[in-house]
Amino acid sequence: MPPMKSFHIITFGCQMNEHDSERMSGILRSQGLVPAATVDDAEMVILNTCSIREKAEQKFYSELGRLAHLKGRDGKRITIAVAGCIAQQEGSRLLSRTPSVDLVIGPSDIARLSEMIEQRRDGGRPVVETGGDPEYHHKLVPAARTDGLKAWVSIMYGCDNFCTYCVVPYLRGRERSRPLQDIIAEVRSLADRGYREITFLGQNVNSYGKGLEAPCSFPELLCQVQEVDGIERIRFVTSHPRDLSVGLVGAIRDLPKVCESIHLPVQSGSDRVLAAMNRRYTSDEYRENVKQLRDAVPAVSLTTDIIVGFPGEDDEDFAMTLDILRDIQFDTIFAFKYSKRPNTKALDLPGHLPEQVKEDRLEQVFALQKEITLRKNRQHVGSVQEVLVEGESRKGGTLTGRTRGNMALNFAGPHNLKGSLVKVRITSAGPNSLIGDLCE
Ligand code: 5AD
Ligand code: SF4
Repeated sequence: MPPMKSFHIITFGCQMNEHDSERMSGILRSQGLVPAATVDDAEMVILNTCSIREKAEQKFYSELGRLAHLKGRDGKRITIAVAGCIAQQEGSRLLSRTPSVDLVIGPSDIARLSEMIEQRRDGGRPVVETGGDPEYHHKLVPAARTDGLKAWVSIMYGCDNFCTYCVVPYLRGRERSRPLQDIIAEVRSLADRGYREITFLGQNVNSYGKGLEAPCSFPELLCQVQEVDGIERIRFVTSHPRDLSVGLVGAIRDLPKVCESIHLPVQSGSDRVLAAMNRRYTSDEYRENVKQLRDAVPAVSLTTDIIVGFPGEDDEDFAMTLDILRDIQFDTIFAFKYSKRPNTKALDLPGHLPEQVKEDRLEQVFALQKEITLRKNRQHVGSVQEVLVEGESRKGGTLTGRTRGNMALNFAGPHNLKGSLVKVRITSAGPNSLIGDLCE
């Protein structure tokens, strides 16, 4: 088989997966392959999969079915690789289920992608690699980032929290932090190449540093990156409420480049449900954390994740989730119906709820939050916000960028502002974005 020339990656799921796709793209480009705009034009297609909820899994299987059909048709030559969490979860079972799969590669095996492609070409048999390289967190796999302005940087892999609904610890393994000097070197090189904003990625960034040879905390990491010339903004996802330290609150308050924005998944407002989820905080402790954060950083933008219909959640528990949404007034939320995941402890809990109950509760959550988000967005009208200009808006005609609170904002202005920080006065607010006028 001659070497392949083009590839296309379809990414499902979270920012971690998006970034892993950038890495796989980086490896393939360094091998001389070029990205193809569509699946039909590609000789290799990678499906980078997500297994966090059943729905994500179903989306992948229907895409895989479509690809397998395409491969069978007219003798089209196409190499199919499955990467990400479903690859890790299913391993070689994927091959028996869909024989047209050529490669199965787990999230911590990405560094071996080109080797696997060669092996497939030479050996003729499908190749599965899900063992996970224990040294993966020390390896810098080149990432082909497309943005030019904003970059994701992984600071840790895996998760040790074992929330009872979550499949992540089983698929991404134990928590490993990347050494500080590796992260700083990557950030410096991004700054040299013109990147202005860094988003640190990890399942639980505020426990960064555990187990490192040279001990370092997340606030210390932020302090060091604050010193990197050229980087104007620092963001991070995701934080666990239990680990929200005084040090981190201080870093958000005191470090000018750290944006006043935090994603702090609460999941539920009921202490009974939080305990069953193994979240290890109570709703009052969460409220207290938010109070401290807002006392220190009044302008902080706060977003969260909610799960409705966790096993055993009764009407009263659910009412408490609505209460916490009303009390805290999050800027935005991501809400999900509880979904059964393999190997997780919640599978064995009593009181699994009918789909319709979950559906109704999810709708109530969305309806309540819709009002809150719009009200909060409108509170910005009249204020002046700093915006990193990302370029022309999707609809065209205006510029677009994000505020420090991570709100999308559109405004009129010259194109050469792309990449700069400007001040914009907010004139109106919709449910998902703001509109404003450029200040002189
Ligand atoms: N069912 C529903 N939502 C889930 N999440 C994680 N696992 C599940 C599950 N089994 C949600 C949590 C988490 C977000 C990334 O996905 O809210 O914070
Ligand atoms: Fe899953 Fe909990 Fe870890 Fe988040 S913190 S990845 S929800 S186990």
